[in-house]
Amino acid sequence: MKSREDSESRVPVITIDGPTASGKGTIASRVAEHLGWATLDSGALYRLTALGVLQDGANAEDVESVAKVARELDVRFAGDSIFLKGEDVSLRIRQEDIGNLASRVAVYPEVREALLERQRAFRQPPGLVADGRDMGTVVFPDAPLKIFLVAAVEARAERRYKQLKEKGFSVNLTDLLEDMRARDQRDASRASAPLVAAPDAITIDSSGLSIDQTVQAVLDHWSTRQG
Ligand code: DC
Repeated sequence: MKSREDSESRVPVITIDGPTASGKGTIASRVAEHLGWATLDSGALYRLTALGVLQDGANAEDVESVAKVARELDVRFAGDSIFLKGEDVSLRIRQEDIGNLASRVAVYPEVREALLERQRAFRQPPGLVADGRDMGTVVFPDAPLKIFLVAAVEARAERRYKQLKEKGFSVNLTDLLEDMRARDQRDASRASAPLVAAPDAITIDSSGLSIDQTVQAVLDHWSTRQG
């Protein structure tokens, strides 16, 4: 009999890692749609942990309290909606205060460990497109295609600014740019699972590419891999 690990590792995964607002989420869902695969938005799990910490009044500086929140997350993904303890928090977790707290709690190895199996459980046939920071390095190191998606910080801040405005949030571009630089720095310099390209990842710079062009670049790499 095959172990769960054996059969899961045959399910193909495309990992898309990169800094905040590099377009990973959009590209991942378009690629998944094209292939008929599922998606994993791993950042959402860190954001949900951050929101859980706030809701429970847990101490964000206390590793064990935060890891407990991560282990016990009562979360449900339903299409584009995300529920925490039965409440639709899809919009709330996209706010910048939650993104910044997510980046802070993501530094703790115990929190990362608590979320590991939950992420791997998304690997189901016919395939998975997973986006985050450590999808290709830690969570799915055997993924047959790993993309590292980058874009200039100014281009990313503009994109995030537009996204937040469209959702009706009031934002300031200069603050956003500063927060983004700080987050990049923290995500890339932490000791546990920092944001780095896996040695076998293909880097795509989307600064001058449209969404369609970026999606096409990923799909082309996938065809070549299979080819
Ligand atoms: O991708 P995002 O902006 O939604 O992620 C929010 C934060 O969560 C990010 O600043 C760092 C953390 N994160 C992580 O450490 N590892 C991941 N695989 C995904 C997100």
